[in-house]
Formats: sequence, C-alpha cells, structure tokens
Amino acid sequence: MVADTINVHTHIPGHPSIHILGHELVLDVPITALILSAVGAAFLLRYTLSFFRLFLELTVLPGINVNKFQSRSGGTWALVTGCTSGIGLEFARQLASKKFNIVLIGRRKAALDELSKEIESKYGVETKSVVVDVATPGSARDEALTQIELLAKQIDLGVLINNVGASHNMPVPFAETERSEMTQIIETNIVWTYLVTRAVLPSLIARSNRKGSPKSLVMTLGSLSGRIPSSLLASYSGTKAALSTWTKALAEEVKSQGVVVELVQAAFVTSNMSKIRKSSALVPTPSSFVRSTLSSIGLPRGAQGRPHERTPFWSHAILDYLVGFAGYVSEMAGVHVITSMHKDIRKRALRKAAREGKKEQ
Ligand SMILES: NC(=O)c1ccc[n+]([C@@H]2O[C@H](COP(=O)([O-])OP(=O)(O)OC[C@H]3O[C@@H](n4cnc5c(N)ncnc54)[C@H](OP(=O)(O)O)[C@@H]3O)[C@@H](O)[C@H]2O)c1
Repeated sequence: MVADTINVHTHIPGHPSIHILGHELVLDVPITALILSAVGAAFLLRYTLSFFRLFLELTVLPGINVNKFQSRSGGTWALVTGCTSGIGLEFARQLASKKFNIVLIGRRKAALDELSKEIESKYGVETKSVVVDVATPGSARDEALTQIELLAKQIDLGVLINNVGASHNMPVPFAETERSEMTQIIETNIVWTYLVTRAVLPSLIARSNRKGSPKSLVMTLGSLSGRIPSSLLASYSGTKAALSTWTKALAEEVKSQGVVVELVQAAFVTSNMSKIRKSSALVPTPSSFVRSTLSSIGLPRGAQGRPHERTPFWSHAILDYLVGFAGYVSEMAGVHVITSMHKDIRKRALRKAAREGKKEQ
C-alpha cells in the first residue's frame, strides 16, 4: 500500500511531502491512503503480536510458580472452598501435592473427613475442615466465617481459592427462574465469595505486606458465561460477570500490599455442575483444568487485554481469544451460539424430566 516510488515533484494537493536538502519530496500516494495504510498496519501488528503472545503463553512461557506463595520455612496453608467434588476437589489435591496444608470448606462433613484423610496420608500435609452451607445466610454461616477469620490469623495462610459455585439446574428463562434457585446462586457465587475473602484478606495482607515476605494469592473461579452474556443462565451469568469486575477492583487495591488477585475463566469442565461426564479437547477433566490453572498463574492466555483475568486451559483460551477477536461482531456471534445451545439443552432437559416423571407415575 505504501508508494513504491518516491518522486521529486512540485507540491501536489492531498499528497504528503517532505523537504530534504532544499528539495521537496512528494509521495506518490494521497495522504488518506497513507493514513489508512498506517492504521491497517497498526491493527495487523496488534493482532499478530497478541496471537504470538497467546501462542507463547500456551506453549513455552511459564506462569508464576505456585510455590512462590509459600513461606521459606514451609507450612503455608491454602484454603479451598467447595472442595468435595469437581474442580475444588482437584485444587485441594494438587495444592497438597505441592506441600500446601489445606483448609477444606464444604457442606458435607463425611466427604470432608474422607478427603482430609486422603490428603494427609497421601501427601503428608495437615488439613483443617470447616463445614458450612455457604448459600444459607444466618448464624451458622456467620459462625463459620468467624471461625475462618480466626483460623487465618493463626496459620500461615498464603492462598485462597474461591472455587465454590452454584448454577441453574437447567437453562431457564429469567422470568421463570425459581426464587430459591436465584438466591442460592447469588448467595453462593457473590455473597459468600465476598464474605470469605473479606474474612481472610487482612491476614493475607499482613503476611505479604513486608519487604522480602512471600506474596499471597486470591484466585476466584469465573466462567465464560460471565464473559459472554448467557441467555437462559442469566442469573449465573450475571454473578460471574460481577466477580470479574470485583476481582479487578480488589486486585488494584491490594497489589501494592503483596496480594495477587485473579479471576480464572473456564468454559465447560466435566463435573456435577456441567453434568458432562466425558472429557474431550473442549471439555477437560477437573484434573487437567486445575493442572493448567496452577501452572499458568499470572498469564492471561485467552483473556488478553483484561487485567487480572485469565483463561488457562488451552481450548478455552483459544475460544475466549476468538470471542474477543473482532469486537462486537465476534462477541455477538458468541452470544447467538450460546443462546441456541442453551435452548437446545433446555429442550433436552425438559424431555428427560418428562420421561422420568412418566416412569415415576
Ligand atoms: N464445570 C464447569 O463446566 C464450570 C465452568 C465454568 C466455571 N465453573 C466454576 O467452577 C467452580 C467449581 O465448579 P464445579 O464444576 O467443580 O462444580 P461442582 O462439581 O458442582 O462442585 C461444586 C463444589 O461446591 C460445593 N458446594 C456447592 N454449593 C455449596 C454450598 N451451598 N455450600 C457448601 N459447598 C457447596 C459442592 O459441594 P457438594 O460436593 O456437597 O455438592 C462441591 O464441592 C464453580 O465456581 C463454577 O461456577 C465450572
């Protein structure tokens, strides 16, 4: 697009010119073409660099080693919410395998006891458990939060994994969502996440705010449903979007105090929540999802240009990157794909519920 010849001319209106040694050089292209070429080249450069960065982050660039959040003397603790199944269970196991002691938070005492035994015997670390239904406001939840706050002051807590989450039983129009389902989602995903973070944050800051001390980490599970507005999961989608903005605000507040705060984005992962049992390239198991998450701390991967946010698993990262690629056009394409996918899932779920209803009669 740039002129392949530079001619010495007298001034031509609309063509850029420069003066060298008393000669006026006039470029053989109009100024508008030159500006458009420069803008095009800038865009091309931007996309090439960001694609190159995505490629490097998915292949060779290492994230912050999670052991950087441990104290030199050892004995650092990680607190994992919702650790009795799925992604949370894997966070507890994989952090224990890296010699973190684990505070286990869940609502099923028997499952917590079993996990505690497994982790202690397999990895030789300590555990402590707090049994709490995080979705139910009231004195039991308040007591659990007080217990967690006190615990955080007594131990060397270096990592908080805000994993617990609740979603809809099946895709549902907002106007038909049960009030109980909606409040459970909001209480679990937003209220509890804020409250438990508030309970331990002063201890994380006190631990990391000194020169030479290890940094602390607050990692919160987001969802691409929060990144791409998800019709028929509006309540869930909105809570995860809220966590994204909350993460960014909090991260900026505490970064100078040695606390790293980040939101981890995920598309589907096999679990009770997704109701997907079979893994594939697009749907990892919790084990591979958590492995890629813990090995890429600090790398945005698919979440480029969105500070304090990252999409660690490779296929989710590419998906996230493509959604953002062409701005409004690709974002709206994402919205349409998700809407029709949820309509389809709802139809199948309703048919299944009807079949099961008939069997019970
Ligand atoms: N799986 C996905 O496709 C996917 C995609 C994007 C984001 N995420 C996010 O990843 C996180 C983990 O999801 P997951 O797929 O691993 O879900 P999951 O398999 O359903 O596990 C959720 C965990 O949270 C616990 N939990 C749920 N409600 C609770 C409550 N009221 N009180 C105490 N504990 C409670 C569950 O306990 P029980 O064992 O007792 O049920 C379980 O341990 C969530 O924040 C989710 O939004 C998941």
